[in-house]
Amino acid sequence: MMQRQARQWRGAGIPIGFVPTMGYLHAGHLSLVREARRQVGREGRVVVSIYVNPTQFGPAEDLAKYPRDLPRDLKLCRAAGADMVFTPADAAMYPGRAEGRYSTYVVEETLGQGMEGASRPAHFRGVTTVVAKLFNLVLPDVAVFGQKDYQQAAIIRRMVADLNFPVKIVVSPTQREADGLAMSSRNKFLDAEQRAQAVILFHALQAAKAAVAAKPMSAARLKQDLREFFTAAPLARLDYVEFFDPETLAPVRRVVRGTHLALAAAFGRTRLLDNARL
Ligand code: PAJ
Repeated sequence: MMQRQARQWRGAGIPIGFVPTMGYLHAGHLSLVREARRQVGREGRVVVSIYVNPTQFGPAEDLAKYPRDLPRDLKLCRAAGADMVFTPADAAMYPGRAEGRYSTYVVEETLGQGMEGASRPAHFRGVTTVVAKLFNLVLPDVAVFGQKDYQQAAIIRRMVADLNFPVKIVVSPTQREADGLAMSSRNKFLDAEQRAQAVILFHALQAAKAAVAAKPMSAARLKQDLREFFTAAPLARLDYVEFFDPETLAPVRRVVRGTHLALAAAFGRTRLLDNARL
């Protein structure tokens, strides 16, 4: 159905913009929908997919608890100017998976090793697989991803280059709450105290920016400083602090302007991410 519609649009020369999501949409997702519209223009079609992809969750992760509200999502998509919302079922995406008859995955082998890949072993294999499948179903000319998931966007770019997907990848800026916390579907799991302390991720990015603007520093030293910085938020369990090259994602020893910083921290069972170019 989806693919047939996409082929019809393509046959008529209508460009297709695509925003893949797992739903429970917020203003960050909707900014991607508007960017997709800018990319394809008024004559184009913007497709949003809402699919909580089981293969990108580890066995101990929050797949069953992942927040869902399809009626609300559909309204938000319409208001943001999407032409179509694609909500595939598990049986359509992974036929026979429960019985062990699904066996093809897409794996990026380098950029996904560190950071999220180290903390969540099969995560990016699930992401590249589902995004490749969605690209084959939606046949987009342009797909828009958020900078919020910087490593994910870099891996998708690499996959598209390596596997010759005829899709332009656009990465759109992180949308934040008024206090600076990056918007995330998972923020709703934070209780009031955790929510108040969660802004430490954003403040840590700003502190690192200020430090590096003054002078280049060793990554080891800045990591140590940021670990200390996090003691101001006792509910945060810092997972990683990584300074890396924005293109190769390779860790750097010396942090300069333009180095990228990514952070992950858990509050209770809720894991939050943020990143910025310094
Ligand atoms: P999800 O977490 O729903 O995010 C969908 C898209 O929205 C991603 O490209 C993500 O980077 C972007 N996004 C999330 N929060 C954002 C924010 N605060 N500002 C701007 N963009 C934001 O990422 C996924 O789903 C999945 O891994 C997916 C790519 C859909 C594959 O299943």
